[in-house]
Formats: sequence, C-alpha cells, structure tokens
Amino acid sequence: MKTIQVNASRNYDIVIDAGLLEKTGEYCSPFCPNKRAAIITDDTVAPLYLSTVENSLNSTGIETIHYIIPSGEASKSGENFLAILNFLAEHQMTRTDTVIALGGGVVGDLTGFVAASYLRGIGFIQIPTTLLAMVDSSVGGKTAIDLTAGKNLAGAFYQPQLVLCDYLTLNTLSKEVFADGCAEVIKYAVLNSPSLFNHLEQNLLDFDREMVIAECVSMKRDIVNRDEFESGPRKFLNLGHTVGHAIEHRSAFTLSHGKAVSIGLSIIATCSENAGFCNSETVKSINRILKSFNLPITTDYALDELVDIMLSDKKRDGKKLTFVVPESVGKCVLHAINIADIKTFLNPWFK
Ligand SMILES: NC(=O)c1ccc[n+]([C@@H]2O[C@H](COP(=O)([O-])OP(=O)(O)OC[C@H]3O[C@@H](n4cnc5c(N)ncnc54)[C@H](O)[C@@H]3O)[C@@H](O)[C@H]2O)c1
Ligand SMILES: [Zn+2]
Repeated sequence: MKTIQVNASRNYDIVIDAGLLEKTGEYCSPFCPNKRAAIITDDTVAPLYLSTVENSLNSTGIETIHYIIPSGEASKSGENFLAILNFLAEHQMTRTDTVIALGGGVVGDLTGFVAASYLRGIGFIQIPTTLLAMVDSSVGGKTAIDLTAGKNLAGAFYQPQLVLCDYLTLNTLSKEVFADGCAEVIKYAVLNSPSLFNHLEQNLLDFDREMVIAECVSMKRDIVNRDEFESGPRKFLNLGHTVGHAIEHRSAFTLSHGKAVSIGLSIIATCSENAGFCNSETVKSINRILKSFNLPITTDYALDELVDIMLSDKKRDGKKLTFVVPESVGKCVLHAINIADIKTFLNPWFK
C-alpha cells in the first residue's frame, strides 16, 4: 500500500492498494459525517464494482444512493450535470453529505463538477477505476463537462477529500483503455523519471502497478502543489498533448486520447531533435517504448490542418504556443514558439 499526500487548497490522501474497494466504508467514514453518500458511476463499471462499494459503505453505517450514467465521453454533458444535481436535491442531500465518483475520467470529471456546484460545494471522494483516471484525472482537482463547442469548456478547480486507487479494478479494463493510460504513464516517465522509463521498458505491460501509479501520482502531485491553478509548471503535463490534442480533434475523437498523445509525443521528440534540444537516441528510445506498448507513432493528417486546430486551442497564450520538448528521457523544457514559426518547428516530422 502507498499513500500520497496532496497539499493543495485542500489537503488529502491518495491511497493506492489492491482490494481497496472492499474497504471503501472504512476509508470514507471520516469524510461522511452525516452517514449518507451518493455514488455516481457508469453502466460498465456499475455491474462490476458498485455492489462491492455500496456493501462496504453500508456495513459501516453509511446509507447510499446511486446514479448510473451511460459509459463514454458523451455522458460528460450539461444534461447529465443537471440531472445529477436534481437527483441530489430530490434525495435532499445536504452539505455534510458526500458524493463519490466510481469510474474513469468521465465519471470523475462530471461528478467533481457536480460536487463543486451542488450547494456551492459538497463532500467529494474519487474512486478511479481506469489507469488514466488513477494517474491523471483524479489528481489535481480539475473537473469539467463538455459543451457543444468543445471538450472540458465548463468546470471548476475542486479538490476531492480522498482518492482511493484499487488497482485490481484495472484487470477488467479492455486492452485499448489500458493502453490509453499507459500513454500517460510513458509521458510522466519521459517528463521526469529515467528510472520509471527503465522499469516500463523492462517489464512492459507487467509493470509494477502499485509502484508505477504511485510514481505518476507523486509527480503530478508535486506539480499541482506548485501550480494548482495552472499558471506555470502545470504546463509540463502537456507533454505530447499540444500536437496530440490536435490529432484527437482532427479525428473527430474517433482516435482515443492515449493514442493521440502517443503520436504527439513521438512527433514532438523528432522536432525537438531537429531543433537541437535532444539527440537521436532520445527519439529512438521514446519511439521504441511507445511501440512496445502497442501505441501508434504515426498519422496521415497534414501539418497545416493540425496547426490550424492548435491555433484555436484555448490554452494558447496570445501570439505564442508553448510546447513541452524533451532534452533527454526524464528531462523536458518549455519552448514557446511564435505562431508564425510553428510550421517550421513541426515540419521536420511531416516532410
Ligand atoms: N481532470 C483532469 O485533470 C483530466 C485529465 C485527463 C483526462 N481527463 C478526462 O478523463 C476522461 C477520460 O478518462 P478515461 O480514459 O478514464 O475514460 P472513461 O471514463 O470513458 O473510461 C473508459 C472506458 O472504460 C470503462 N471502465 C472504467 N473503469 C473500468 C474498469 N475498471 N473495468 C472495465 N471498464 C472500465 C468505462 O466505462 C469507459 O467505457 C476524458 O473525459 C478526459 O477529458 C481529465
Ligand atoms: Zn492526457
């Protein structure tokens, strides 16, 4: 078991262990003073894990209600947001009651925004059940729903009171969803940890889940502690994402986030070498590890169309776009590029 402490606008623990779901009641009790909790989950996760979580909460005297959304990104909607708020109000949930997100990043982001909004803030616990949610979306307090104009356009910074990562739940993930999480794990390794990179290279999909999740969570925690509201260091987490988001967008979201990030990571590594930030060994190592996790590293989309999408990104700062570029495996720097020079910077990969 590993416990990571986060010191943000709210201090809380992220607990990582096998079999935590059965101890949900024990862990959540201190955060459920009123002994009532609403569990929000999706229709893939519910048949697998909802009864274990409810039974454990009920056995410690916590009364539960639950709300099940259809699985998939389309559920991170304004309609579901309002429907869940109304559900909480109909059940007369109060400020001393708790909302628990049981599921992947979709459930976590939506539930977090509900928790931030209901009565202007209610107790909130995350039980992530995908690798991506464990290492990324459940850490850092960003919550969101999608709008017609784009993903994550409405939301709030709202930290949970507790995060429980039971990595046994990863055993039921599809290969595709697991690989998506692996792309984020590889991102952390390239960003900050040669030793994590070596461990992944040596063990591939049999990596030590507890250690790897704890390493990634600690890295994100360190960055969030320094920059909760995303004014500086948190930008590093965008490694592979600036190009990756454009690819994901261009595919009309038919390509998964993890695959798009993998391609984005490979492209940025090549362009980084060309601009003199890293050597060819770094590029080869990054490409090799992505391929060995069955992640893609190429795209047929044209540079022009991807750059147009990048320029419409909400994270753009005025006349520049900041890329995170590797200098070596485990060390990256921020590279702000004038809009007029972006095509020249990215062209080496596309030509
Ligand atoms: N808040 C943040 O900081 C942050 C960071 C990264 C990503 N995100 C968001 O996270 C979302 C993606 O998260 P995700 O990849 O977890 O997607 P997801 O929640 O859609 O889960 C992927 C699929 O796996 C299923 N699933 C979940 N747990 C399972 C389990 N244990 N066994 C079997 N199936 C399971 C889900 O039902 C779904 O079909 C996106 O909406 C993205 O915007 C947020
Ligand atoms: Zn990501």
